[in-house]
Amino acid sequence: MFSSFDLVFLKLNFMTEPTFSSDIFRRQDESADERFYDFPRFVTHIDQAAIEAVTELYSEFFPAGGAILDLMSSWVSHLPKTIKYRRVAGIGMNREELAANPRLTERVVQNLNGEPKLPFGEAEFDGAAICVSVQYLTQPIFVFREIARVLKENAPLVVTFSNRCFPTKAVYAWNALDDNGHIKLIGEYFVASESFDEVVVRKHLPVYNDPLFGVIGRALKK
Ligand SMILES: C[S@@+](CC[C@H](N)C(=O)[O-])C[C@H]1O[C@@H](n2cnc3c(N)ncnc32)[C@H](O)[C@@H]1O
Repeated sequence: MFSSFDLVFLKLNFMTEPTFSSDIFRRQDESADERFYDFPRFVTHIDQAAIEAVTELYSEFFPAGGAILDLMSSWVSHLPKTIKYRRVAGIGMNREELAANPRLTERVVQNLNGEPKLPFGEAEFDGAAICVSVQYLTQPIFVFREIARVLKENAPLVVTFSNRCFPTKAVYAWNALDDNGHIKLIGEYFVASESFDEVVVRKHLPVYNDPLFGVIGRALKK
């Protein structure tokens, strides 16, 4: 008898194609993502301490003056205020949220579940981020490969998450797992994409505030 944890990883291990369609990437709400993200949400999805933990990771992994890709972006990017980047490209679902984000130097509205190919050339970026959103990707391995394609060699993809989400829009695999399962799942995305090396994990576990986990991989040589 398998637990839901075993089942998720068993199914993931059978995946050989990045676009493999599997029930572990189905969602309770399969209506168009455009509808769900049609109105702007000018809120923060994690508390201030968790946001600071994200910002600290970005300070550590993203080079000052670099070109940064903020995937699944909104009106805030959590980048360190004191560090300047020459380019910050944001991809998200809501035009108004992206327009209100003061850190972005360019904005793309794109549904990564409908069109996972990124509208950038090879090796344009020095770092990429997915903050509290990876659970909404239905073709994560394809997207991770695309991110590696647009990153320079050895540039980091920083994936962060906490312990809450919009469950109806999160994939089955996410809803079936706990925090450690989420770390392992994201690790599997990195490995299955065959495009990243050196995956490291960071945990910020305060007693009363939101937890914050980071899983970071570095793009392999093209
Ligand atoms: C919980 S919010 C997080 C926003 C932001 N990263 C942050 O840290 O506050 C989820 C974000 O994922 C984006 N998103 C959800 N589904 C998406 C999809 N299919 N394609 C692209 N972006 C998506 C939404 O636009 C939204 O901004």
